[in-house]
Amino acid sequence: MHKIGVMPGDGTGPEVVREALKVMKAVSEKIPFQYQLTDLDYGAERYLKTGVVLSDEELEGLKRFDAILLGAVGDPRVKPGIIEKGLLLKTRFGLKQYINLRPVKLYPGVDCPLKNKKPEDIDFVVVRENNEGLYVGEGSFEKKGQPDEVAIQVSRNTRGGVERCLRYAFEFTRKRNKRKKLTLCGKTNVLTYAWDLWERVFQELAKEYPDVTPDYAHVDATCMWMVKNPEWFDVIVTDNMFGDIITDLGAMIQGGMGIAAGGNINPDGVSMFEPIGGSAPKYTGKNVINPLAAVCAMGMLLEELGECAAAKLVEEAVMFATSQKMKSQAAGKMGYSTQEVGDLLVEFIRNKKA
Ligand code: IPM
Ligand code: MN
Repeated sequence: MHKIGVMPGDGTGPEVVREALKVMKAVSEKIPFQYQLTDLDYGAERYLKTGVVLSDEELEGLKRFDAILLGAVGDPRVKPGIIEKGLLLKTRFGLKQYINLRPVKLYPGVDCPLKNKKPEDIDFVVVRENNEGLYVGEGSFEKKGQPDEVAIQVSRNTRGGVERCLRYAFEFTRKRNKRKKLTLCGKTNVLTYAWDLWERVFQELAKEYPDVTPDYAHVDATCMWMVKNPEWFDVIVTDNMFGDIITDLGAMIQGGMGIAAGGNINPDGVSMFEPIGGSAPKYTGKNVINPLAAVCAMGMLLEELGECAAAKLVEEAVMFATSQKMKSQAAGKMGYSTQEVGDLLVEFIRNKKA
C-alpha cells in the first residue's frame, strides 16, 4: 500500500492535482496497485488564516509518506518568497530531497518553438542539485542602505553534497541507457571554487563509470546548445541555481510549463513530485489550465514507487492526448478544459487493451 501525501497548494494547483489523481485512479484499476491518499492543506490559503506555512512538526510528519504530490505554490496575496521558502524549499531541504530531476521531453504533437526539432531531438534529463549552492540562504549585508552597501550571497558546495548528486547522475545515466552521456553544466572558467570541486569529483567518479561518456559545458554554452542542438544531450547534471534556470529553458523547448514536470528526490527517503510551472493565479478556477504537467509528475511518482508499468501507461495516455487530441499546450487553447483533458486520459487508459 503506497501512502501518498497530496498537497494541492495554491492557485491552479488544486485543479491540476484533481486531474492527476483522477488519472492515477484509472491507472490503478487497469494495472492494479494499492494506494492511500492523505490530503494536506498546506499553502497560501491556510497561511493567511493561521500564519503557519509548514511547522517543524508538520515537516516531520511528511516522513510517514512514501511519496508526495504537490500542485503549486505562490499566491499574489502573500509576499513573494514566504510560501516558496516556507513550504517548497523547507520540504526539499528538510526531507533531504537532494536531487531535482527534470526530464525535458518533447511529446508527439506538441508545438516546439525550435525550428525543425522533433520529438527524437528533444529527450534529455536534467539532474539539478537541490539542497545546496546559492539556495542555502547564506549571506550578509554590509552597510545596508548606504551608497557603498555590499550584499553577499554564498554558494555553498560540500564535497558530500556534490558527490551524492554526481553519483546519482552517473547511476541515472547508466540506467537510462540511452546515449550514456553525462554532461556536467558549470562555470569552471569564472566560479573557480565551486566548479573546481564539482569538476574534480566529476572526473573521479567518471573512472567508476567507464560505460558513461563524461562531457562538460559551461552553463551559458549549455543554454545555447539546448536551443541549437538539444539532440546532443542525454543527461545534464548541474548545481541548484544553474539547474533552476536551464530547466525553465528546458520547459519551453518541450512545449511549455503546461507539460513540464519534475521530482524532488531523496533516493533513501520521501520524494515529492510537482508540475514545474507556478500557481498561475490568473487562470485559477477557470478550468483552462493544462493538467498534463501534474499528470506527468504523478507518473514520475509512480515510477519512483516502483510502479513502472503504471508509469508507462500514464505516459502513453499523455502522448495520446498530445498527438491525437489537444490543439495546444497553452492554458485556454487546448481545445479542451482542464477536466476534459483528464477525461481524455482516463478514457484512453480504460480502453487500452491489456
Ligand atoms: C522551481 C522554482 C523554485 C526554485 C522557487 C519557487 C523557489 O522556481 O522549482 O524551479 O527556485 O527552485
Ligand atoms: Mn524555477
